[in-house]
Amino acid sequence: MEIRRREPIRAVTRQVLLFPFLLSLFCRAVSEQIRYSIPEEMAKGSLVGNLAKDLGLSVRELPKRKLRVVSVDKKQHFTVNEESGKVYVNDRIDREEICGTSQLCIINFETVLENPLNIFHINVAIQDINDNAPRFLKDNIKLEVSESTLPGARFLLGNAEDPDVGVNSLQSYQLNPNQDFILEVKESGDDPNQDFILEVKEGRDGNKYAELALQKPLDRESQSSLHLILTAVDGGEPRRTGTAQIWINVSDANDNPPVFTQELYKVSLRENAPTGSLVLQVKATDNDEGSYAQISYVFSHIPEKARQKFSLDPETGKITVKEPLDFEETCDYTLVVEAKDGGGLVTHCEVKIGVLDENDNAPEMTLTSMSNPIPEDSLAGTVIALINVKDEDSEDNGKVSCHLQDDSPFKIISSANNYYKVVTDSTLDMERTPEYNITITAVDKGSPPLSTQKTILLQISDINDNAPVFEKPSYTAYVPENSPSGASIFSVKASDRDLDRNARVTYSILSSNLEEVPLSSYISINSQTGAIYAQRSFDYEQFREFEMQVKAQDGGSPPLSSNVTVRGFIVDQNDKAPRIPYPSRWLRLVRDGPSLGRGRLSGDKGGGGGC
Ligand SMILES: *[C@@H]1O[C@H](CO)[C@@H](O)[C@H](O)[C@H]1NC(C)=O
Ligand SMILES: *[C@@H]1O[C@H](CO)[C@@H](O)[C@H](O)[C@H]1NC(C)=O
Ligand SMILES: *[C@@H]1O[C@H](CO)[C@@H](O)[C@H](O)[C@H]1NC(C)=O
Repeated sequence: MEIRRREPIRAVTRQVLLFPFLLSLFCRAVSEQIRYSIPEEMAKGSLVGNLAKDLGLSVRELPKRKLRVVSVDKKQHFTVNEESGKVYVNDRIDREEICGTSQLCIINFETVLENPLNIFHINVAIQDINDNAPRFLKDNIKLEVSESTLPGARFLLGNAEDPDVGVNSLQSYQLNPNQDFILEVKESGDDPNQDFILEVKEGRDGNKYAELALQKPLDRESQSSLHLILTAVDGGEPRRTGTAQIWINVSDANDNPPVFTQELYKVSLRENAPTGSLVLQVKATDNDEGSYAQISYVFSHIPEKARQKFSLDPETGKITVKEPLDFEETCDYTLVVEAKDGGGLVTHCEVKIGVLDENDNAPEMTLTSMSNPIPEDSLAGTVIALINVKDEDSEDNGKVSCHLQDDSPFKIISSANNYYKVVTDSTLDMERTPEYNITITAVDKGSPPLSTQKTILLQISDINDNAPVFEKPSYTAYVPENSPSGASIFSVKASDRDLDRNARVTYSILSSNLEEVPLSSYISINSQTGAIYAQRSFDYEQFREFEMQVKAQDGGSPPLSSNVTVRGFIVDQNDKAPRIPYPSRWLRLVRDGPSLGRGRLSGDKGGGGGC
């Protein structure tokens, strides 16, 4: 339309001049219609038009004609000067107030002339100026958009209103990331880096409204809120704008699984760690918020034996010892822990627990075999016992050494594969020590060391290594003459330090000096008791003394024996008168015999009396 531009006041067009001309043809008193056009909002007193000139009246006759404005409206927008015949603005003229959204805005009024009476209709077209900026009904637009919303989703932003008309009214919208970027008009900013693009739609009523379209997925974890500025622009000169703030909260979706601080947790633990003590704490974080970030922990894969030993706090992720550990039973465990967020997303991590050995096992000793008893004549180095030693611990804690108590005639020798041999170290003597308690001590190298003791009773068996021994080195017997035959006249005794058969002594007479007669006709010996019997009476007068060898022999195999000399003296009874000189044999005896015999003999002689 041609009235869009502001026109100078003097360039008022005289639009309908045909009508007054026709009127003047038929009736000069009939009214004429004059049309002016002015922009709205002109200052009071501004000239609208020269009515006198437009009506063809001379200024001189005007005072007589009494030109004036008549109006039925209360509000008098215009006045006319009676003398100059010019029309002026009388009051503020707001096009929007008077005409609203109508494109055409015309104010009608009448002027009257008298002498003769005449009436003129005057139309003043009020042209729009861009005196209104677009305005949003809501200048804070709040949106909540889930981060799971798919691109292409639309969000209505509403519209702005501009009461001006034509180009001065709302023309377009712009979306700006910030306030400094206003007024650079571009129709539709399709910046691919923008999360949202603006789309302008036209409703049935012709109003333009704005929509936001999501261009790419949002991520609450990197940006939880957005602030955009929506600008409405009109087409006036200069352009006027109105803005609204768009506040977008990005709401959480469970789009992040929990993440463990480590994929693999490793820890070493002493096997004597008390129950309830902390092994380690696993930790997972989740970038979501609220319940989507709430993590609970469970063992997702765990061997049965580890399930008995460890417990896991579902809230804190703390793994603690449930039952005492045993390095010897299991020295490492591998567990899988699952972290699950409130939305059901899960992640796994691996936990390796190594158990460190403690010296908690004493050596164990097993007597594998034993020779018991052993003969006392066993050579040094004879194996008595074979012992196996075991220690469940590892490294130094499981290294064992063995020893015997001091001063024993045995020693212990390490053999292969944790076997030890107890052997004799010197000769043995059953008669002195018939049995030994051998104490074996096994000690490990732990700190502190643990030890085990075992005592074995070893019996020494007898060997016939002792000959019978007579109680005296020699015996002297005094036998009264004429003692009845069969009388016990003497007794010898030998003992044997060996045992049993080896100590069972039997006695016998070896020889005697009674060569002329068989000894047995005079003397016998009880082989069991060593008692000596007279087989017949001795006659002092026939022989006065005798000498014999008595043998004591044990029952060993081979037997051992010893002999002793028994001297017998016949003690005279006064049965005859002394008359016969000493026989030659007696004299020999006196010459060769021991001094003791001689003494006794002299005593005996005295005892005999009468010699
Ligand atoms: C956006 O988040 C803020 C802070 O959390 C909150 O105060 C506000 O009410 C939220 N707005 C909407 C539209 O949800
Ligand atoms: C050996 O030990 C046993 C049992 O303690 C004990 O009766 C015995 O007298 C001990 N023998 C020796 C020779 O110490
Ligand atoms: C009797 O013993 C001695 C030494 O004790 C020995 O010299 C002698 O040969 C033995 N006599 C007999 C007959 O065995």
